[in-house]
Amino acid sequence: MSPYRLTRVLPADATDAALRSDVLRGLGAAPKHLPPKWFYDARGSDLFEEITRLPEYYPTRAEREILVDRAEEIAAAAGARTLVELGSGSSEKTRLLLRALRELSVYVPVDVSESALAGAGRALLAEHPDLTVHALLADFQHGLPLPEAPGPRLVAFLGGTIGNLLPDERAGFLASLRALLRPGDTLLLGTDLVKDEEVLVAAYDDARGVTAEFNRNVLAVLNRELGADFDPADFDHVALWDARREWIEMRLRARTALTAKIPALDMAVSFAAGEELRTEVSAKFRPEGVRAELAAAGLDLRHWWTDAAGRFALSLSTPIPAP
Ligand SMILES: C[S@@+](CC[C@H](N)C(=O)[O-])C[C@H]1O[C@@H](n2cnc3c(N)ncnc32)[C@H](O)[C@@H]1O
Repeated sequence: MSPYRLTRVLPADATDAALRSDVLRGLGAAPKHLPPKWFYDARGSDLFEEITRLPEYYPTRAEREILVDRAEEIAAAAGARTLVELGSGSSEKTRLLLRALRELSVYVPVDVSESALAGAGRALLAEHPDLTVHALLADFQHGLPLPEAPGPRLVAFLGGTIGNLLPDERAGFLASLRALLRPGDTLLLGTDLVKDEEVLVAAYDDARGVTAEFNRNVLAVLNRELGADFDPADFDHVALWDARREWIEMRLRARTALTAKIPALDMAVSFAAGEELRTEVSAKFRPEGVRAELAAAGLDLRHWWTDAAGRFALSLSTPIPAP
């Protein structure tokens, strides 16, 4: 078997249909919103990698610190022969797990970004020639037909990406993950933790404006994919902390009143001056909340690790057997 295979769970027209329906629904709503997965074309994936290297963006460094310290412990507890990674991106931090998981034979990165999957697959195979990499171009929120692969399986969901799902989406997503797991499988979940507002906002509004460019990139995606005529320069990047819901929101705020045409949808979208489009939420967590959300989905939190400064957590859970 070839050591690298890509399965398109998402045919190109499915992506197109999903984008159309998200734009119709989200830009037709009040307040306007779009799901964050549309940031990640090739440019968006590159910008995200740049964000992970910014001084203000602590989550990647904090999560890497935990993996450096705990990868051996995680590997011993998981004993996995297959690693499935959701929203794998560049798979950069995953290297630490791959080195520690000595029984591993199959790695299944799952992402909506084909460019990220291809780049990561090439780099990993150069380092691990004996590994089979079976990449899935898939939306992890819409069913995951995992390839047949030896168990036990470790499902990793890193980067705090779970925080991009709204609470009811998280509950549904965790329940569907639980349904995928068999006895002996484990879930490694990265969650960013509640902390000072100043630190949180800076992480999503860096001095160099890389996150602002990442945020505006979604408009470039709409222009390219749907023939829209947004001028990204007409929008300000906004990052704010919602203390009640304990999440960061990224928004795009129209500088002036404007109307953009979206020919592929036969749609015109008007913004009043100052009107905002929500492009991402990034929920921050507390230990008791993570445990409770996992338990509600039928998962038992067995290990909890944080970086030394307590900014980010990794948890390892196992499926609770059905009664
Ligand atoms: C915040 S980045 C994290 C990347 C990497 N795991 C890390 O920790 O640096 C989110 C990743 O998830 C992917 N992604 C976002 N929504 C997705 C979805 N619904 N299905 C599959 N992948 C998704 C993006 O393309 C991106 O690579």
